[in-house]
Amino acid sequence: MTIASALIGTLREKHPDADLDTLDVWREDLPEFDQRIIEAKYKWVAGDELDEAEAAAWSQIESLAERIREADRIVLGVPMWNWSIPYKLKQLIDLVAQRNLLFTYDGVHFGPAVDVARADVVFVRGQYYGEDGPTPGSMFDHQVAFVKFFLRTIGVRDVRSLIVDRTWDPAADEAIADGIERARGLGAAD
Ligand SMILES: Cc1cc2nc3c(=O)[nH]c(=O)nc-3n(C[C@H](O)[C@H](O)[C@H](O)COP(=O)(O)O)c2cc1C
Repeated sequence: MTIASALIGTLREKHPDADLDTLDVWREDLPEFDQRIIEAKYKWVAGDELDEAEAAAWSQIESLAERIREADRIVLGVPMWNWSIPYKLKQLIDLVAQRNLLFTYDGVHFGPAVDVARADVVFVRGQYYGEDGPTPGSMFDHQVAFVKFFLRTIGVRDVRSLIVDRTWDPAADEAIADGIERARGLGAAD
């Protein structure tokens, strides 16, 4: 949050009139992806009528997806949790990544249903994932590729990112200060 906030701070300086919509996955009331939502999902895709409970659940999904669809630019702060992304972010993705809401699928091909110009993603990890270290990214990193893939697949045209490693190290302060600096640079870059 510290590093993503630095990036957002730079964007606010550059675009003081821009609307900022903060979606904090820990504070947002994200519904459980339960039977009701599964029923609503398949009925909605098939064009069938939803009952009252399903319609209410589905409208919650639509309003979350709308916040992504309406964005000109998305900023994401993503910590690594157990080599991947935190479950709350995955819950958000599972809720909103619906056929015909964020992507299309014709039975063979996937396509985007969103047109967002850009996303800036801050990936933060406690350890070091260089190929020369004990936890090489090619084996241990299931965070970066998935998030980039997801954003590109739904239709974010330009996905940029920065990685901050070693926040578990004694030298974490340096890694974080350097990350803040790079985040400001990414936020300022056209
Ligand atoms: C539940 C949990 C799981 C974590 N798993 C990993 C991991 O697999 N690899 C890693 O390098 N760091 C891991 N970390 C460390 C975080 O990625 C690190 O603390 C990073 O700075 C997260 O951002 P934060 O400090 O704002 O929470 C984990 C942290 C938590 C809380």
